[in-house]
Amino acid sequence: MAQAVTEWVSVTDDISIIARESGEVWFHNRDKTKSDVDPFSRPMTGPGSMGSTIGLLDGAIGLGFAAIGKRVASPEPTVAAYIVALVAAYHTSVDTPRNLRRAASRFEALGRPEVAAYLEIRAREESGHDRLALKDLRALGVPGDRLVASFIPEGIGPLCKRFDDLCAQDYPIGSIGYSYCLERTAALKQQSDIDRVQALCPPGVDTTRFLRSHSALGSEASHVDETIEFVASLPAEDRIKVVQETYRSALIMSQGYNHELRKSEAEIFEEIGRALGETLPYPHGSWSLPGAEQGVRPAP
Ligand SMILES: [Fe+2]
Ligand SMILES: [Fe+2]
Repeated sequence: MAQAVTEWVSVTDDISIIARESGEVWFHNRDKTKSDVDPFSRPMTGPGSMGSTIGLLDGAIGLGFAAIGKRVASPEPTVAAYIVALVAAYHTSVDTPRNLRRAASRFEALGRPEVAAYLEIRAREESGHDRLALKDLRALGVPGDRLVASFIPEGIGPLCKRFDDLCAQDYPIGSIGYSYCLERTAALKQQSDIDRVQALCPPGVDTTRFLRSHSALGSEASHVDETIEFVASLPAEDRIKVVQETYRSALIMSQGYNHELRKSEAEIFEEIGRALGETLPYPHGSWSLPGAEQGVRPAP
């Protein structure tokens, strides 16, 4: 009988994630004094499987987000935070197709056409997502083009830079770990999350195009499944690098969330106002869109 697959990856100096094909996952504290008897102190070399690869990737995200508090894990949406989220969505998607194609040509040159083909498909699928965020901003009465040109939320800048850097590497396999981290966390969003945001907005105005497509309801769930299948088929040294980058991206992402969510709604509007050189017409969570009733409070 074939042995069930067990995979493991060291993600920090002393923590390894261990995952079985059955879906079981452990965080293993490595004792450096016992490295000669610890089988997980050496890099894995065997094949992957869907079950164990999911365990490693999601374990890496869980560990990366472990340091953040509950408030951030499930923040109450506000109009200001949603505008910032859309600006962040724009910046994390506008260069994605170009970056993925850059990584794809590198793999083509390295004689890895299967990785190049996977990245090319991803680049096609991600095209135009920045425009969804701009449309949502416009629907909110925000001059999206002007705002994104002058405003990158501080917490999001390092994440965008990370992806640019990864795709420019000589061996850009980490770009898959980054993308998995962003897509997997997006795919956790459910209809109820979309409803909570839509409830903040004036009735009849569609402001959740980006959110819907980057949630369990949109294409994100299938992107996640396809990535897991692809990563599981990669050689062990690639799977290790992908999981390590998934962890690093989750860390950067969680630090960025913390940074943005520490700000009050008034501070965020002030920041947006400074970037635009004008004050938006709905401070303190009330709406004043052209044609909308003045001063309507968002639904609780
Ligand atoms: Fe996308
Ligand atoms: Fe996607």
